[in-house]
Amino acid sequence: MTRVFSGIKPTGPVQLGNLLGALRHWVADQDEADGVFCIVDLHALTVPQDPVELRERTLELARLLLAIGIDPERSILFVQSHLSEHAELSWILECTASFGELRRMTQFKDKSDGAEFVSAGLFTYPALMAADILLYDTDRVPVGDDQRQHLELARDLAIRFNGRYGDTFVVPEAAIPKIGARVMDLQHPTRKMSKSEDSPQGTILVLDDLDAVAKKIKRAVTDTDTEVRFDPEHKPGVSNLLSILSACTGEDPAVVADRFTRYGDLKAACAEAVVETLRPIQQRYRELAADPTGTKDILAAGAERARAIARPVLDRARTNLGLLAP
Ligand code: TRP
Repeated sequence: MTRVFSGIKPTGPVQLGNLLGALRHWVADQDEADGVFCIVDLHALTVPQDPVELRERTLELARLLLAIGIDPERSILFVQSHLSEHAELSWILECTASFGELRRMTQFKDKSDGAEFVSAGLFTYPALMAADILLYDTDRVPVGDDQRQHLELARDLAIRFNGRYGDTFVVPEAAIPKIGARVMDLQHPTRKMSKSEDSPQGTILVLDDLDAVAKKIKRAVTDTDTEVRFDPEHKPGVSNLLSILSACTGEDPAVVADRFTRYGDLKAACAEAVVETLRPIQQRYRELAADPTGTKDILAAGAERARAIARPVLDRARTNLGLLAP
């Protein structure tokens, strides 16, 4: 079976954009691939985190992934820091990557530009990400477009390592979902809905109160004329609502557009679709949250299964590199 690996950082509340853009692809991937899904808490450390909050967010994210349908029977769900293998292979890959290569990463440039404190980890972040991927003999990595360059690097590092030391790593492919489910901020529809809390009225959190969700959608910014048409460039507000609605119902946004003549009806339909998408997720989330050990047990079992794959791959790399067996 094809192995799919992906990761998500426990750095903020999960919003509708994460769900419709990335996470529901993870859920769907489980039907046709062997899924390994990782909460990448070590990646969160590139900027200082509040310890209590980090721990809480990690557990919250695990519950949420289970609530949206990551099935721990079929897939592996685990926390990155529960396996020392990730940090260990990361060092090896830092020594495989060149300084110049890491310096060219646009995400590093964007995030370090003007920052008061830039951790060395922010710079080496892509090597850790490559370690995550390569440890699982991954075939396919579903990521957003913003991670394409990091994934290219992971491929380059695998190829370089294999060339120097002999066949060690599987070279992964990117699987970037087609645009369409790019969810934009409801108040500023030309920018992506983001995890950060600087636009609470424009952002729908997966665990938001459902009445508040409906209100935010009904107050979304639309466009000056009155025609309902899918045209992200000229009608970003209306197109965003169409994208969201169609992502919830699994239809094409241009087809959905034909059903509406008034903004009000579109907003009402969109609000209902989102609320009905979130309702069962929130219900399962509450059940998981009411069970103090259930999610932790699932993560422990996931770490165990992850290690059974990652350990032999790391050992292969160690041996091929010439590190003396302990
Ligand atoms: N860097 C990814 C992001 O910010 C998260 C991530 C870490 C990841 N390791 C990964 C994604 C491995 C895919 C595969 O979204």
